Amino acid sequence: MHVQKIGIFYFSGTGNTKIVANLYANEFQYKGFNTNLIPIENILRKNLNPSISDYDILGFGHPVHAFSAPKIFFDFLDRLPDVDNRKTFTFKTAGDPICHGGSTSLVRNGLNKKGYKVFHENLIIMPANVVVKYDDSLVKQLYEVAVKKVKRGTEEILSGKTKLQKNNLWLKIGTYLFNKAECNGAFYFGKYLIASDSCNLCGKCIKECPTRNISKQNESIIFGNKCTFCMRCVYNCPERAISNKYMNFFIIKKGYNILNIINDPKIKGNYISHKTKGFFKHFYNYMSDY
Ligand SMILES: Cc1cc2nc3c(=O)[nH]c(=O)nc-3n(C[C@H](O)[C@H](O)[C@H](O)COP(=O)(O)O)c2cc1C
Ligand code: SF4
Ligand code: SF4
Repeated sequence: MHVQKIGIFYFSGTGNTKIVANLYANEFQYKGFNTNLIPIENILRKNLNPSISDYDILGFGHPVHAFSAPKIFFDFLDRLPDVDNRKTFTFKTAGDPICHGGSTSLVRNGLNKKGYKVFHENLIIMPANVVVKYDDSLVKQLYEVAVKKVKRGTEEILSGKTKLQKNNLWLKIGTYLFNKAECNGAFYFGKYLIASDSCNLCGKCIKECPTRNISKQNESIIFGNKCTFCMRCVYNCPERAISNKYMNFFIIKKGYNILNIINDPKIKGNYISHKTKGFFKHFYNYMSDY
């Protein structure tokens, strides 16, 4: 019997989408499907064209940036070859269940035009990696809900269930406005990144930048004009030497890395309940639907 092969292509700036992509891969593998996980930056960095002919089902994942997807993800979609009606699912991670934008329709239309038949879309809320640091308990709870949403998602995908995200007018307008802001925002964010004197020229940021936007010149770290606003260099610098001249409010002061929280059994994921009031109240509906 032919065992269906699944290919999951994803971009992840600071690890959230990677965690979710891994959850998908583990679920599919557990159910007996041969699954490959492919970070799209590996393909773009080598200037290769994506190889998709091996896969019966394709998955594409990205973080939400300003109601849309990062430019690097659209660059990757442009490189995909045309196919004939290939079964396709998408997922995106966002920091908020309301402000996730209508990015799926931009992604969906781009994929559909090339013959990738998008039949299943999943929105997974993960901690925001900009501006506001989420409480550890909320981080844990979002992860635990993500596990359940991905499990249900894989079952629906394998049963062929169609589940497409609806985009109301607010999401369409928001996407249109904020996506324009993101294109310029990424350019200026990259332009005004600086490495302070505490930089020891270790080269980690140069090696890890997904768009090869960082280089060393005359014993200094230089940022170019290809930034995709992913925040990876900022949070992964071992010396915390990278900041932004004018847009520092985007950077979470104590840094961003959720793996320790997810793996700490002492942290309980019980931040949101039906009694929650204040800003995070609107997370309850998302949390209770899986
Ligand atoms: C430049 C930028 C813009 C963002 N815009 C949004 C947004 O419009 N809505 C939202 O819910 N989250 C937004 N986020 C938060 C991310 O979508 C969220 O933290 C995501 O899970 C990060 O995934 P990653 O770690 O795979 O990069 C933004 C993050 C960045 C860096
Ligand atoms: S990762 Fe930090 S310390 Fe290393 S080269 Fe980059 S800015 Fe400097
Ligand atoms: S310069 Fe930093 S924020 Fe910009 S794409 Fe590279 S790693 Fe991401």
